[in-house]
Amino acid sequence: MGKNKLKKFAQNEQFEHVLQPAFSEIFQKDFRLKGCWNEEFGNDNPIVLELACGKGEYTVGQARLFPEKNFIGIDIKGARLFTGALQAKEEGLKNVRFLRTKIDLITSFFATDEVDEIWITFADPQMKRPRKRLTSDLFLERYVQFMKAGGTLNLKSDSTELYEYTRDESVPEYNQRKAPYHFETLFDTDQLYETGIKELDETMQQVLNIRTFYEQMWLEEGKKIKYIRYELQHQS
Ligand SMILES: C[S@@+](CC[C@H](N)C(=O)[O-])C[C@H]1O[C@@H](n2cnc3c(N)ncnc32)[C@H](O)[C@@H]1O
Repeated sequence: MGKNKLKKFAQNEQFEHVLQPAFSEIFQKDFRLKGCWNEEFGNDNPIVLELACGKGEYTVGQARLFPEKNFIGIDIKGARLFTGALQAKEEGLKNVRFLRTKIDLITSFFATDEVDEIWITFADPQMKRPRKRLTSDLFLERYVQFMKAGGTLNLKSDSTELYEYTRDESVPEYNQRKAPYHFETLFDTDQLYETGIKELDETMQQVLNIRTFYEQMWLEEGKKIKYIRYELQHQS
C-alpha cells in the first residue's frame, strides 16, 4: 500500500468526526450510535446520508449550505473519504460525520425514522450484479427501515443503466410489492444540466450544482447527468 494512503488512514484515526467501526462491532448487531445520531450531533436537526460518498462532495457541500441539517458521508474507502473529512475539519463544519463501512450493513447504523434524506451519488452501476446496486430492492428494503415518512431518496448518476433500472424496474416493482410503502417520484430528468435544472428552485439548483470527483470526469467525457428524487410515503 502507498505511503500516502497509509498517512490518510492514520489521520482518519485521529479525526473525531470519522467513524470506522470494526466488523465485529456491527455484524448482526447494532452500532453504538444507532438511534442516537442526534445526540452525537448535539441537536435535533434532520439527518442526511450520502451513500457511496467517495470524497464526500455532497456531504461537505450540503453541510456548508445547510448548517441546520446533519450530514453523514458513507463509503468503504478510507483514503477517499479522508478528503472530505479534512475539508470539514479545516472549515470547522460541526454538522458532518463520515462513516467508513459497507453500505450493505447500513441497518446496523440507523433506527426507525432516524433519517430524513438519502443521496446516492455516482454509485457503481454494478452491471453484472444487479442486487448489489444501491437502488436494488434489497437496498430499498434496508432504507425504508430507517427513513422517515416524507423523507427523500435522491439518485444522481452518469449511468443510463443504473438510472433506467431504478426508474423503470426496481422502484416500480418495489412499490407494487411493498404497499403501503411507496416511493413517489418528485422529480426526474435524464439531462440535468441541459434542461432539468431550470425547472428546480434556487436552493435545489445550488445543491445540484455541487459536482463530485467522478461526476467531473464523466462530464469531461460528455456524459449526460441523470437525477431522480423520490419521496417515501407510508400509507397506513
Ligand atoms: C464511482 S465512486 C463515486 C464516489 C463519489 N460519490 C463521486 O461521485 O465522486 C463509487 C463509490 O462507492 C463506494 N462503494 C461502492 N459500493 C459500496 C458499498 N457496498 N459500501 C460502501 N461503499 C461502496 C466505492 O468505494 C466508491 O468510493
